[in-house]
Amino acid sequence: MICSILETIGNTPLLTIAGSNKANEGQVLFKYERYNPGGSIKDRAAMYIINEAERRGLLKPGGTIIESSSGNFGISLAMIGAAKGYRVIILVDPKTTKSNLALLKCFGAEVIVVTEQDDTGSYHKTRISLANKLAKEIDKAYRPDQCFNLLNSEAHYKSTAREIMDDCSNQITAFITAVSTGGQLGGISKYLKTFAPHVQIIGVDAVGSSIFGGDTHSYRIPGVGLGWTPMNLNMDNIDCTYKITDEQAFLTARAFARNEGILMGPSSGACALVALKVAQELTPQDRVVCMIADGGERYIHTLFNDEWIEQQGFAAKVKMETIRAMAQELQPWSQSPAASANYRLDLTQSLDVPESTLHMNSELLRRDCDTHDSCIYID
Ligand SMILES: Cc1ncc(COP(=O)(O)O)c(C=O)c1O
Repeated sequence: MICSILETIGNTPLLTIAGSNKANEGQVLFKYERYNPGGSIKDRAAMYIINEAERRGLLKPGGTIIESSSGNFGISLAMIGAAKGYRVIILVDPKTTKSNLALLKCFGAEVIVVTEQDDTGSYHKTRISLANKLAKEIDKAYRPDQCFNLLNSEAHYKSTAREIMDDCSNQITAFITAVSTGGQLGGISKYLKTFAPHVQIIGVDAVGSSIFGGDTHSYRIPGVGLGWTPMNLNMDNIDCTYKITDEQAFLTARAFARNEGILMGPSSGACALVALKVAQELTPQDRVVCMIADGGERYIHTLFNDEWIEQQGFAAKVKMETIRAMAQELQPWSQSPAASANYRLDLTQSLDVPESTLHMNSELLRRDCDTHDSCIYID
Protein backbone atom coordinates (compact mmCIF):
# COMPACT_ATOMS: atom_id res chain seq x y z
CA MET A 1 0.00 0.00 0.00
CA ILE A 2 1.46 3.40 -1.00
CA CYS A 3 -0.06 6.22 1.07
CA SER A 4 0.64 9.22 3.29
CA ILE A 5 1.24 8.78 7.03
CA LEU A 6 -2.19 10.27 7.81
CA GLU A 7 -3.93 7.78 5.54
CA THR A 8 -2.76 4.98 7.84
CA ILE A 9 -5.08 6.15 10.65
CA GLY A 10 -7.78 3.60 11.53
CA ASN A 11 -8.51 0.03 10.42
CA THR A 12 -6.78 -1.37 13.49
CA PRO A 13 -6.95 -5.11 14.29
CA LEU A 14 -9.14 -6.98 16.78
CA LEU A 15 -6.86 -9.30 18.77
CA THR A 16 -7.78 -12.57 20.46
CA ILE A 17 -6.22 -13.37 23.85
CA ALA A 18 -6.37 -17.16 23.83
CA GLY A 19 -3.97 -17.66 26.77
CA SER A 20 -5.93 -15.52 29.26
CA ASN A 21 -9.46 -16.19 28.07
CA LYS A 22 -10.90 -19.62 29.05
CA ALA A 23 -12.76 -21.68 26.41
CA ASN A 24 -15.95 -21.86 28.50
CA GLU A 25 -16.41 -18.08 28.78
CA GLY A 26 -17.20 -15.18 26.42
CA GLN A 27 -14.54 -14.41 23.79
CA VAL A 28 -12.59 -11.23 24.58
CA LEU A 29 -11.37 -9.22 21.58
CA PHE A 30 -8.99 -6.28 21.97
CA LYS A 31 -9.43 -3.36 19.54
CA TYR A 32 -5.71 -2.55 19.35
CA GLU A 33 -5.32 1.17 18.68
CA ARG A 34 -1.55 1.23 19.10
CA TYR A 35 -1.32 0.61 15.34
CA ASN A 36 -2.46 4.12 14.50
CA PRO A 37 0.58 6.13 13.31
CA GLY A 38 0.58 8.39 16.39
CA GLY A 39 0.32 5.28 18.57
CA SER A 40 -3.19 5.72 19.97
CA ILE A 41 -6.91 5.94 19.32
CA LYS A 42 -6.67 9.74 19.59
CA ASP A 43 -5.33 9.95 16.01
CA ARG A 44 -8.89 9.31 14.83
CA ALA A 45 -10.57 12.23 16.62
CA ALA A 46 -7.62 14.57 16.00
CA MET A 47 -7.66 13.87 12.25
CA TYR A 48 -11.43 14.19 12.02
CA ILE A 49 -11.51 17.51 13.90
CA ILE A 50 -8.61 19.01 11.92
CA ASN A 51 -10.13 17.95 8.58
CA GLU A 52 -13.47 19.52 9.59
CA ALA A 53 -11.73 22.70 10.75
CA GLU A 54 -9.96 23.00 7.38
CA ARG A 55 -13.16 22.28 5.47
CA ARG A 56 -15.02 24.99 7.42
CA GLY A 57 -12.18 27.53 7.04
CA LEU A 58 -11.49 27.60 10.82
CA LEU A 59 -7.91 26.43 10.28
CA LYS A 60 -5.97 27.96 7.41
CA PRO A 61 -2.38 27.68 6.10
CA GLY A 62 -0.01 29.35 8.55
CA GLY A 63 -2.42 28.56 11.41
CA THR A 64 -1.59 27.42 14.94
CA ILE A 65 -3.28 24.48 16.67
CA ILE A 66 -3.62 24.99 20.46
CA GLU A 67 -4.82 22.19 22.70
CA SER A 68 -4.92 21.02 26.30
CA SER A 69 -3.79 17.39 26.51
CA SER A 70 -1.61 15.45 28.92
CA GLY A 71 -0.81 12.85 26.35
CA ASN A 72 -2.27 11.05 23.41
CA PHE A 73 -4.47 13.72 21.82
CA GLY A 74 -1.59 16.21 21.93
CA ILE A 75 0.75 13.67 20.31
CA SER A 76 -1.81 13.01 17.54
CA LEU A 77 -2.19 16.74 16.89
CA ALA A 78 1.59 17.21 16.91
CA MET A 79 1.96 14.46 14.31
CA ILE A 80 -0.85 15.84 12.14
CA GLY A 81 0.50 19.40 12.49
CA ALA A 82 3.94 18.21 11.37
CA ALA A 83 2.47 16.37 8.38
CA LYS A 84 0.28 19.32 7.34
CA GLY A 85 2.65 22.18 8.21
CA TYR A 86 0.87 23.82 11.18
CA ARG A 87 2.45 25.24 14.34
CA VAL A 88 1.22 23.18 17.33
CA ILE A 89 1.13 24.30 20.98
CA ILE A 90 0.18 21.68 23.59
CA LEU A 91 -0.62 22.50 27.24
CA VAL A 92 0.41 19.59 29.45
CA ASP A 93 0.69 19.20 33.24
CA PRO A 94 3.16 17.70 35.73
CA LYS A 95 1.51 14.25 35.32
CA THR A 96 2.59 14.12 31.66
CA THR A 97 5.21 11.39 31.28
CA LYS A 98 8.77 11.97 30.05
CA SER A 99 8.03 9.77 27.04
CA ASN A 100 4.98 11.83 26.04
CA LEU A 101 6.93 15.07 26.38
CA ALA A 102 9.68 13.60 24.20
CA LEU A 103 7.15 12.49 21.56
CA LEU A 104 5.51 15.93 21.46
CA LYS A 105 8.90 17.54 20.96
CA CYS A 106 10.04 15.06 18.31
CA PHE A 107 7.05 16.11 16.17
CA GLY A 108 8.11 19.74 16.70
CA ALA A 109 5.25 20.79 19.01
CA GLU A 110 5.75 23.61 21.53
CA VAL A 111 4.94 22.46 25.05
CA ILE A 112 3.61 24.55 27.97
CA VAL A 113 3.52 22.85 31.39
CA VAL A 114 0.54 24.08 33.48
CA THR A 115 1.32 23.58 37.17
CA GLU A 116 -1.73 25.19 38.80
CA GLN A 117 -4.29 22.61 39.99
CA ASP A 118 -8.04 23.19 39.63
CA ASP A 119 -10.69 22.80 42.34
CA THR A 120 -10.83 19.00 41.80
CA GLY A 121 -7.09 18.58 42.35
CA SER A 122 -6.50 17.88 38.66
CA TYR A 123 -5.26 20.20 35.91
CA HIS A 124 -8.09 19.87 33.38
CA LYS A 125 -9.79 23.21 34.05
CA THR A 126 -6.59 25.25 34.41
CA ARG A 127 -5.16 23.77 31.21
CA ILE A 128 -8.35 24.38 29.24
CA SER A 129 -8.72 27.99 30.47
CA LEU A 130 -5.15 28.85 29.50
CA ALA A 131 -5.53 27.16 26.08
CA ASN A 132 -8.68 29.25 25.44
CA LYS A 133 -6.88 32.43 26.52
CA LEU A 134 -3.91 31.73 24.23
CA ALA A 135 -6.22 30.92 21.31
CA LYS A 136 -7.65 34.44 21.62
CA GLU A 137 -4.20 36.05 21.73
CA ILE A 138 -2.46 34.14 18.90
CA ASP A 139 -3.20 35.08 15.31
CA LYS A 140 -4.83 32.33 13.17
CA ALA A 141 -5.17 30.03 16.18
CA TYR A 142 -7.51 27.05 16.18
CA ARG A 143 -8.67 25.16 19.30
CA PRO A 144 -9.72 21.55 18.53
CA ASP A 145 -11.12 21.52 22.10
CA GLN A 146 -11.47 17.75 22.59
CA CYS A 147 -13.30 18.20 25.87
CA PHE A 148 -16.16 20.36 24.60
CA ASN A 149 -16.17 19.78 20.82
CA LEU A 150 -18.85 17.25 19.86
CA LEU A 151 -16.90 16.38 16.70
CA ASN A 152 -14.75 14.28 19.05
CA SER A 153 -17.48 11.68 19.59
CA GLU A 154 -18.70 12.04 16.01
CA ALA A 155 -15.26 10.83 14.82
CA HIS A 156 -15.77 7.54 16.67
CA TYR A 157 -19.41 7.25 15.62
CA LYS A 158 -18.27 7.48 12.00
CA SER A 159 -15.10 5.34 12.06
CA THR A 160 -14.26 3.27 15.15
CA ALA A 161 -17.78 1.96 15.85
CA ARG A 162 -18.36 0.89 12.26
CA GLU A 163 -15.02 -0.89 12.06
CA ILE A 164 -15.82 -2.86 15.21
CA MET A 165 -19.25 -3.90 13.95
CA ASP A 166 -17.94 -4.82 10.48
CA ASP A 167 -15.05 -6.87 11.88
CA CYS A 168 -17.43 -8.76 14.18
CA SER A 169 -20.12 -9.20 11.50
CA ASN A 170 -22.42 -7.36 13.93
CA GLN A 171 -22.03 -10.17 16.52
CA ILE A 172 -21.08 -8.42 19.79
CA THR A 173 -22.52 -8.97 23.26
CA ALA A 174 -20.68 -6.25 25.18
CA PHE A 175 -18.41 -3.28 24.45
CA ILE A 176 -16.02 -1.81 27.01
CA THR A 177 -13.92 1.34 26.97
CA ALA A 178 -12.39 3.90 29.31
CA VAL A 179 -13.53 7.50 29.51
CA SER A 180 -12.12 10.99 29.82
CA THR A 181 -13.47 13.45 27.24
CA GLY A 182 -16.14 10.87 26.41
CA GLY A 183 -15.19 10.86 22.73
CA GLN A 184 -14.76 7.12 22.35
CA LEU A 185 -17.47 5.95 24.73
CA GLY A 186 -19.89 8.68 23.58
CA GLY A 187 -19.49 8.07 19.83
CA ILE A 188 -19.30 4.28 19.91
CA SER A 189 -22.20 3.87 22.37
CA LYS A 190 -24.38 6.17 20.27
CA TYR A 191 -23.67 4.07 17.16
CA LEU A 192 -24.21 0.74 18.91
CA LYS A 193 -27.42 1.85 20.65
CA THR A 194 -28.74 2.99 17.25
CA PHE A 195 -27.72 0.03 15.08
CA ALA A 196 -27.20 -2.82 17.59
CA PRO A 197 -29.19 -1.93 20.72
CA HIS A 198 -28.69 -5.39 22.23
CA VAL A 199 -24.97 -4.66 22.86
CA GLN A 200 -24.24 -3.99 26.52
CA ILE A 201 -22.22 -0.77 26.81
CA ILE A 202 -19.78 -0.61 29.71
CA GLY A 203 -17.80 2.49 30.70
CA VAL A 204 -14.61 2.38 32.77
CA ASP A 205 -13.30 5.25 34.89
CA ALA A 206 -10.58 5.63 37.53
CA VAL A 207 -11.29 5.54 41.25
CA GLY A 208 -10.81 9.23 42.12
CA SER A 209 -12.52 10.60 38.99
CA SER A 210 -16.18 11.62 39.05
CA ILE A 211 -17.42 11.20 35.47
CA PHE A 212 -19.86 8.57 36.80
CA GLY A 213 -20.33 10.41 40.12
CA GLY A 214 -18.53 9.73 43.42
CA ASP A 215 -15.67 11.41 45.26
CA THR A 216 -12.85 13.17 43.48
CA HIS A 217 -9.24 12.64 44.53
CA SER A 218 -5.90 12.19 42.81
CA TYR A 219 -5.10 8.97 40.96
CA ARG A 220 -2.26 7.82 38.72
CA ILE A 221 -3.93 6.20 35.68
CA PRO A 222 -3.08 8.57 32.80
CA GLY A 223 -5.59 9.47 30.11
CA VAL A 224 -8.80 8.65 31.96
CA GLY A 225 -11.12 10.62 34.20
CA LEU A 226 -12.48 14.14 34.60
CA GLY A 227 -14.14 16.09 37.39
CA TRP A 228 -17.52 16.15 35.59
CA THR A 229 -19.49 14.18 32.95
CA PRO A 230 -18.30 15.33 29.51
CA MET A 231 -20.86 16.54 27.00
CA ASN A 232 -19.52 14.11 24.37
CA LEU A 233 -21.05 11.30 26.43
CA ASN A 234 -24.80 10.64 26.61
CA MET A 235 -25.13 8.59 29.79
CA ASP A 236 -28.52 7.28 28.61
CA ASN A 237 -26.53 5.08 26.20
CA ILE A 238 -24.44 3.47 28.96
CA ASP A 239 -25.67 0.29 30.67
CA CYS A 240 -23.07 -0.24 33.33
CA THR A 241 -19.95 1.43 34.75
CA TYR A 242 -16.87 0.29 36.66
CA LYS A 243 -14.26 2.28 38.58
CA ILE A 244 -10.78 0.77 38.69
CA THR A 245 -7.89 1.51 41.05
CA ASP A 246 -4.37 2.46 39.98
CA GLU A 247 -3.04 -0.88 41.24
CA GLN A 248 -5.65 -2.95 39.36
CA ALA A 249 -4.98 -1.06 36.10
CA PHE A 250 -1.18 -1.18 36.35
CA LEU A 251 -0.96 -4.86 37.34
CA THR A 252 -3.36 -5.95 34.58
CA ALA A 253 -1.41 -4.08 31.89
CA ARG A 254 1.84 -5.66 33.09
CA ALA A 255 0.28 -9.13 33.14
CA PHE A 256 -0.92 -8.81 29.54
CA ALA A 257 2.56 -7.78 28.38
CA ARG A 258 4.13 -10.85 30.04
CA ASN A 259 1.39 -13.38 29.29
CA GLU A 260 0.05 -12.38 25.89
CA GLY A 261 2.85 -10.27 24.40
CA ILE A 262 0.40 -7.38 24.16
CA LEU A 263 1.68 -3.97 25.27
CA MET A 264 -0.97 -1.58 26.58
CA GLY A 265 -1.18 1.47 28.82
CA PRO A 266 -2.86 1.70 32.25
CA SER A 267 -6.28 2.86 30.94
CA SER A 268 -6.36 -0.23 28.74
CA GLY A 269 -5.27 -2.38 31.69
CA ALA A 270 -8.36 -1.07 33.51
CA CYS A 271 -10.61 -1.98 30.55
CA ALA A 272 -8.98 -5.39 30.06
CA LEU A 273 -9.66 -6.28 33.71
CA VAL A 274 -13.35 -5.40 33.25
CA ALA A 275 -13.40 -7.39 29.98
CA LEU A 276 -12.14 -10.50 31.80
CA LYS A 277 -14.87 -10.01 34.42
CA VAL A 278 -17.64 -9.59 31.84
CA ALA A 279 -16.41 -12.60 29.80
CA GLN A 280 -16.37 -14.80 32.93
CA GLU A 281 -20.13 -14.32 33.18
CA LEU A 282 -20.86 -15.08 29.50
CA THR A 283 -20.74 -18.12 27.19
CA PRO A 284 -18.37 -18.95 24.28
CA GLN A 285 -21.00 -17.70 21.82
CA ASP A 286 -20.63 -14.18 23.26
CA ARG A 287 -18.10 -11.60 22.13
CA VAL A 288 -16.74 -8.90 24.43
CA VAL A 289 -14.97 -6.12 22.53
CA CYS A 290 -12.54 -4.17 24.71
CA MET A 291 -10.79 -0.97 23.61
CA ILE A 292 -7.00 -0.94 24.03
CA ALA A 293 -6.48 2.78 23.46
CA ASP A 294 -2.68 2.82 23.21
CA GLY A 295 0.47 0.73 23.45
CA GLY A 296 3.04 0.43 26.21
CA GLU A 297 6.06 2.32 24.89
CA ARG A 298 4.66 5.58 26.29
CA TYR A 299 4.87 4.03 29.79
CA ILE A 300 8.29 2.41 29.58
CA HIS A 301 9.69 4.67 32.37
CA THR A 302 6.63 4.22 34.62
CA LEU A 303 4.24 1.28 34.29
CA PHE A 304 6.85 -1.06 32.77
CA ASN A 305 9.72 0.03 35.00
CA ASP A 306 10.08 -2.44 37.92
CA GLU A 307 11.60 0.16 40.27
CA TRP A 308 8.89 2.71 39.54
CA ILE A 309 6.10 0.19 40.08
CA GLU A 310 7.62 -0.94 43.40
CA GLN A 311 7.96 2.72 44.47
CA GLN A 312 4.19 3.02 43.97
CA GLY A 313 3.79 0.15 46.43
CA PHE A 314 2.69 -2.37 43.78
CA ALA A 315 4.11 -5.84 42.98
CA ALA A 316 6.46 -6.02 39.98
CA LYS A 317 5.48 -9.62 39.20
CA VAL A 318 1.91 -10.80 38.88
CA LYS A 319 0.42 -13.96 37.41
CA MET A 320 -2.51 -13.92 34.99
CA GLU A 321 -4.37 -16.25 37.38
CA THR A 322 -4.15 -13.50 40.04
CA ILE A 323 -5.55 -10.99 37.55
CA ARG A 324 -8.39 -13.36 36.61
CA ALA A 325 -9.24 -13.78 40.31
CA MET A 326 -9.12 -9.99 40.76
CA ALA A 327 -11.53 -9.65 37.82
CA GLN A 328 -13.93 -12.11 39.41
CA GLU A 329 -14.09 -9.96 42.54
CA LEU A 330 -14.93 -6.73 40.64
CA GLN A 331 -18.33 -5.16 41.26
CA PRO A 332 -19.96 -2.61 38.93
CA TRP A 333 -19.89 0.98 40.18
CA SER A 334 -23.38 1.52 38.74
CA GLN A 335 -25.98 -0.29 36.67
CA SER A 336 -28.08 2.82 36.13
CA PRO A 337 -25.32 5.30 35.19
CA ALA A 338 -27.59 8.07 33.88
CA ALA A 339 -28.81 8.65 37.45
CA SER A 340 -25.33 9.72 38.59
CA ALA A 341 -24.43 11.91 35.60
CA ASN A 342 -22.65 15.06 36.60
CA TYR A 343 -22.96 17.41 33.57
CA ARG A 344 -21.56 20.91 34.05
CA LEU A 345 -22.91 23.08 31.24
CA ASP A 346 -21.85 26.16 33.24
CA LEU A 347 -18.22 25.27 32.42
CA THR A 348 -18.56 26.42 28.82
CA GLN A 349 -18.87 29.94 30.23
CA SER A 350 -16.46 29.78 33.16
CA LEU A 351 -13.71 28.17 31.05
CA ASP A 352 -14.46 30.52 28.15
CA VAL A 353 -15.02 27.77 25.56
CA PRO A 354 -14.40 29.27 22.07
CA GLU A 355 -17.32 30.52 19.97
CA SER A 356 -16.24 28.21 17.13
CA THR A 357 -16.79 25.15 19.37
CA LEU A 358 -20.16 26.37 20.64
CA HIS A 359 -21.29 27.18 17.11
CA MET A 360 -20.22 23.74 15.86
CA ASN A 361 -22.00 22.03 18.76
CA SER A 362 -25.29 23.86 18.15
CA GLU A 363 -25.13 22.79 14.52
CA LEU A 364 -24.46 19.13 15.40
CA LEU A 365 -27.17 19.05 18.08
CA ARG A 366 -29.70 20.70 15.75
CA ARG A 367 -28.89 18.12 13.07
CA ASP A 368 -29.24 15.23 15.55
CA CYS A 369 -32.58 16.49 16.82
CA ASP A 370 -33.81 17.14 13.25
CA THR A 371 -33.00 13.56 12.27
CA HIS A 372 -34.74 12.29 15.45
CA ASP A 373 -31.42 10.93 16.64
CA SER A 374 -30.88 11.18 20.39
CA CYS A 375 -29.34 14.48 21.47
CA ILE A 376 -25.83 13.93 22.74
CA TYR A 377 -26.24 15.49 26.16
CA ILE A 378 -29.07 16.26 28.46
CA ASP A 379 -29.43 19.37 30.59
C1 LIG B 1 -4.87 6.01 26.83
C2 LIG B 1 -6.23 6.63 26.88
N1 LIG B 1 -7.27 5.87 27.23
C3 LIG B 1 -8.51 6.38 27.31
C4 LIG B 1 -8.77 7.70 27.04
C5 LIG B 1 -10.17 8.25 27.14
O1 LIG B 1 -10.69 8.55 25.87
P1 LIG B 1 -11.74 9.71 25.63
O2 LIG B 1 -11.03 11.01 25.88
O3 LIG B 1 -12.17 9.55 24.21
O4 LIG B 1 -12.86 9.52 26.60
C6 LIG B 1 -7.71 8.51 26.67
C7 LIG B 1 -7.91 9.93 26.43
O5 LIG B 1 -6.99 10.70 26.36
C8 LIG B 1 -6.41 7.97 26.58
O6 LIG B 1 -5.36 8.71 26.20
